[in-house]
Amino acid sequence: MALRKILLQGDKALLRTSREVTDFDARLAQLLDDLHETIESEEGMGLAAPQVGVLRRACLVIDLTGTEDEVLELINPEIITYSEELDTACEGCLSVPNIWGMVDRPKEVRVRAQDRFGNVFELDCDNYLARAIQHEIDHLDGILFSKNTTRFLSEKEAELIMDGREREFRKRRKNARLLAAKSGTKPSSINSRKIIVQPADGAESV
Ligand code: NI
Repeated sequence: MALRKILLQGDKALLRTSREVTDFDARLAQLLDDLHETIESEEGMGLAAPQVGVLRRACLVIDLTGTEDEVLELINPEIITYSEELDTACEGCLSVPNIWGMVDRPKEVRVRAQDRFGNVFELDCDNYLARAIQHEIDHLDGILFSKNTTRFLSEKEAELIMDGREREFRKRRKNARLLAAKSGTKPSSINSRKIIVQPADGAESV
């Protein structure tokens, strides 16, 4: 695994549309492992391949909906249904450091994606997770959240209104990172979410 450099706003690669992943091979696994390591060294809630200069439709999202912090891997994700109801909340982005902004997005979505082995799965999500996934899919289409921001905020203002789980997660990661830096080790890793894949014929497999 290796840390990858995160591209910042102003880099043209962030404005390009990423290509579909067609090969579920060792190279993809390496990219995903590197994205894991990179996101673990930051306090971000998600990271998309184009943010490290790889124009492929793959991204990670931190899922805080269960009892543990987990990383969700989404390959070729697409939103297949949206709720009409919108949710307005603040977002930030590792590629747009120190800037936060309010963005309106559908409150509930159903996502179809593939795992790192190419298995197709669907996921219903709402609120912050639905928002995080939509933010990452935007990256795959070359869109930064700052383009859709209705009001910009300082980090302090953002922290006051962000989802409580996200605020706690950011604190936990920051502490883990500081502790690791002190002891010269790596921050503890976040487990990958185990997806139960439901094949088209209805037979369940893992
Ligand atoms: Ni982002």
